[in-house]
Amino acid sequence: PVKACIFDLDGVIVDTAKYHYLAWRRLANELGFDFSEEDNERLKGVSRMDSLNILLEIGGVQLDEARKEELAKKKNEWYVELIAHMDDKEILAGTTQFLTELQKVGVKIALGSASKNAKTILKRIGLMEMFDVIIDGTDISKAKPDPEVFLLGAEALKVEPSACVVFEDAVSGVEAALSAGMRVVGVGSKETLYKANDVVSSLAEMTLDRLEK
Ligand code: G6P
Ligand code: MG
Repeated sequence: PVKACIFDLDGVIVDTAKYHYLAWRRLANELGFDFSEEDNERLKGVSRMDSLNILLEIGGVQLDEARKEELAKKKNEWYVELIAHMDDKEILAGTTQFLTELQKVGVKIALGSASKNAKTILKRIGLMEMFDVIIDGTDISKAKPDPEVFLLGAEALKVEPSACVVFEDAVSGVEAALSAGMRVVGVGSKETLYKANDVVSSLAEMTLDRLEK
């Protein structure tokens, strides 16, 4: 039986990808190029610095480390402004209900996110208390597809990886979960997340029955 569920944040619980996109596009525009929504797909699940490197590669811009630090900081300030206005209306469909069901039957709940803004967002949307353990970008040294974030989650919950199920919208996150020895439910499209053990289009499709299968 499943003893714990570990949830990614961006793209699973809230659609913050749109805010990341606005902030990255603003940065790209300042640097003199545009950044499409299609290109933005490549940034999902990727850490802040890695995202900046992909963005600069798309724009064909080369910068030294100090300048990159500066730009990453700037992007984050814009992003923080954008998420400051979030509230519980931004929780994606089915999330609160599914978390409540898990809690009722005693399945542990963890967050496994690459974002350093994860706790701010959980507070804004009022879901902080639903999580037994929160592992975010401030706790990890290796980004997805490395399994570190999920292994730390399982360890903190004292649950063996084989009894954990991960919920992920990013390809890198699905890979991270699999290499952690966990089962994974992809949240998004079957074509993109074909490596996952099961795929739903949102948590509204999840039930306790489906979780055990
Ligand atoms: C998540 C998002 C990425 C984001 C990363 C770091 O993985 O999917 O788009 O770049 O977190 O977020 P942060 O808030 O620390 O910049
Ligand atoms: Mg995500």
